[in-house]
Amino acid sequence: MDTLRIRHILQQTAGTTCAIRGWVRTCRHTKNVSFVELNDGSCLSNLQVVCDENTVLTDEDRHALQTGASVEVHGTLTESPGGKQTVELLATSVVVTGGAPADSYPLQKKRHSFEFLRDIAHLRSRTNTFGAVARVRNTLASEIHAFFQSRDFLWIHTPIITSLDGEGAGNLFQVTTMDPAAVPQSEDGTVNYREDFFERPSFLTVTGQLHVESYATSHERVYTFGPTFRAENSNTSRHLAEFWMVEPELAFCDIDGNMDLAESFLKTVLTGLLDTATEDMAFFDLRIRPGLLDMLSGVIEKPFVRITYTDAIAELERSGKSFEYPVRWGSDLQSEHERYLTEERFGSPVIVTDYPAGIKAFYMKQNEHASDDRRTVRAMDVLVPGLGEIIGGSEREDRYDLLAARMDELGLDRDMYGWYLDLRKFGTVPHSGFGLGFERMLMYVTGMQNIRDVIPFPRTVGGLRY
Ligand code: 4AD
Ligand code: MG
Repeated sequence: MDTLRIRHILQQTAGTTCAIRGWVRTCRHTKNVSFVELNDGSCLSNLQVVCDENTVLTDEDRHALQTGASVEVHGTLTESPGGKQTVELLATSVVVTGGAPADSYPLQKKRHSFEFLRDIAHLRSRTNTFGAVARVRNTLASEIHAFFQSRDFLWIHTPIITSLDGEGAGNLFQVTTMDPAAVPQSEDGTVNYREDFFERPSFLTVTGQLHVESYATSHERVYTFGPTFRAENSNTSRHLAEFWMVEPELAFCDIDGNMDLAESFLKTVLTGLLDTATEDMAFFDLRIRPGLLDMLSGVIEKPFVRITYTDAIAELERSGKSFEYPVRWGSDLQSEHERYLTEERFGSPVIVTDYPAGIKAFYMKQNEHASDDRRTVRAMDVLVPGLGEIIGGSEREDRYDLLAARMDELGLDRDMYGWYLDLRKFGTVPHSGFGLGFERMLMYVTGMQNIRDVIPFPRTVGGLRY
């Protein structure tokens, strides 16, 4: 007898005999009949299993048949009288593979808060919401790969351990095998990294960009998609210390091509997701963020607004709003500013370009500028309503002298970044790329409000259970 997954069973007609396996969501016993709602993670829906007096079920198993138990059921599909599904399974036999004592199983039938579920992250995937998040996360990743693969981009596996601060922002987790109680020292009293594993300071990467740029200068279209680490002391609902980032990089491409790529990327991936994950997306629309599906469909249809940072500042000044953080040319946009632009002023995703050099990374291409204190770079951030920055990117500085000068200015060690500078020495080319925060995108498409709830095991400042 075939073991089927519930997702497929629900497409079958009455009369099919099959076996299924899964976990009991709820169980209701009457004198002669037990009704079991079973979920196997393959879809949001449960399958109703009916055990009657003809079902082979030991007394011990009947007793163990409770919420949380794992079971294997054999039976025949029958038409479901008035149920939510068209079919249910009339069990010929039920075996409880593992019970779940009701007095200690933490997931009860009632709705639990997301805060409570964060404390039982090892069990929360068994709830409707986290089951759906896991499936949407999988579909989104798959749509992202499909987008790039169908456009000839090569997936490059950039390293996780690196010697470089790829953003020059200093939020690095150090990697070492040195004993913290006995750190080897040089004669001048500084740490002797020659004794460390890599014989130099090493870190978890904050971006795959620098490494993937090297492959953009050989394969033209590349991307990296992997875990990224930032020791930012930001305990917010949008920051993780370990998150996943998608970073395409394109040679022979300027900032306009980069914006076009980002916009078509977001729209195509969204379209694919809405077409594929219909049941789960309908759930998020109903339970998590009413209006979500309309909002996302609207995003697919309308062109994104494109505006320079300088014009965005002018818009904020003109708004007449009193923001908590003052609006000043040269300061970074705060979340309240991003919200005003995306939610109130434009009501759509907004791509802000040409930020002041002082608030952006060293590798961004410098614009011709009128004065030194109004220096801008060809940065492009995609901001979305309800969330703010979802994508950060830029055209890269491809001129050796200008990049080297900027690095000197910022005190970056030219020897360390020598290989990166080489890319501008040998066959340099205009090139651009961006990074999409995968969990930010998941928040956007599911309407989940806390980034801790869209990654299986979140890592945040002071938060590392599991
Ligand atoms: O803007 P960021 O810092 O850009 C880069 O890392 C570039 N190297 C990308 C590139 O051009 N290849 O980060 C990119 C995106 C942000 O827009 C945000 O969505 C996400 O990564 N992100 C975070 N997501 C969760 N937690 C954090 N701490 C994040 N920091 C950035
Ligand atoms: Mg950014």
